[in-house]
Amino acid sequence: MSCKSLFLKKYIVLLSEKMGKTILGISTSPRRNGNSDLLLKKALAGAESDGASIEYLSLNDYEINPCIECNSCYKTGKCVLKDDYPQVLEKLLNADGLIFATPVFFMSVCSQAKMLIDRGQCLWAEKYILKKENKSSTSNRRAMVIATGGSRSIKQYECIRWIFKTYFDCLGVKYVSGLFVGKVDEFGAIEKHPTAFKEAYRLGVMLSTPGTPLPEKPIEVEIINT
Ligand SMILES: Cc1cc2nc3c(=O)[nH]c(=O)nc-3n(C[C@H](O)[C@H](O)[C@H](O)COP(=O)(O)O)c2cc1C
Repeated sequence: MSCKSLFLKKYIVLLSEKMGKTILGISTSPRRNGNSDLLLKKALAGAESDGASIEYLSLNDYEINPCIECNSCYKTGKCVLKDDYPQVLEKLLNADGLIFATPVFFMSVCSQAKMLIDRGQCLWAEKYILKKENKSSTSNRRAMVIATGGSRSIKQYECIRWIFKTYFDCLGVKYVSGLFVGKVDEFGAIEKHPTAFKEAYRLGVMLSTPGTPLPEKPIEVEIINT
């Protein structure tokens, strides 16, 4: 095979891999078009520009109730609560890439995000008590986190990282990148930020690019506006 046709073949394989990718963005903020939500949309635009198909969901459109610690899932791996959780879970398990966006609330994720994450106990039970692999555990799925905070504190992102790392382990996705932006407080503040959108877009492209080896360490961008 000539060099030219080899190159063409490689290009077609790469393109078809990209076309098949689905990147799901999960906006958890109660504020629609707020700071984290807008960054998420930008990251999704980056993924789309790279050929991935994208889906956006806002937890505001779903009823997700808190875990009641009944431990029923320890026997079945399933949650007994009746709400929209199964719909969201199906999307989370089927996407090739996930981007979670949250505001920082009291040094942590917002309650809407935490309610979703706590319902992941059924995934934890399935994996660690029932010792069942869910179909995503063996795949090469990747995840990114976006968080925005009003203060300059860097410590709060450490807390958020740990929460998502633990959750991603249960979801069967690898944490590959994070964008943490401080000093953006009021509604719309992010739109005046000099670099945050550019970084969101860049990391969105990176998340959707197939064939790239997983980074040894997650790529994390912390921007604390002074
Ligand atoms: C209940 C509540 C708690 C907050 N706690 C923090 C905090 O601990 N640290 C911080 O930097 N900002 C905190 N903030 C500010 C938000 O993180 C900040 O405004 C963020 O940009 C909001 O993102 P959003 O527009 O995507 O919701 C808090 C805001 C609220 C409403």
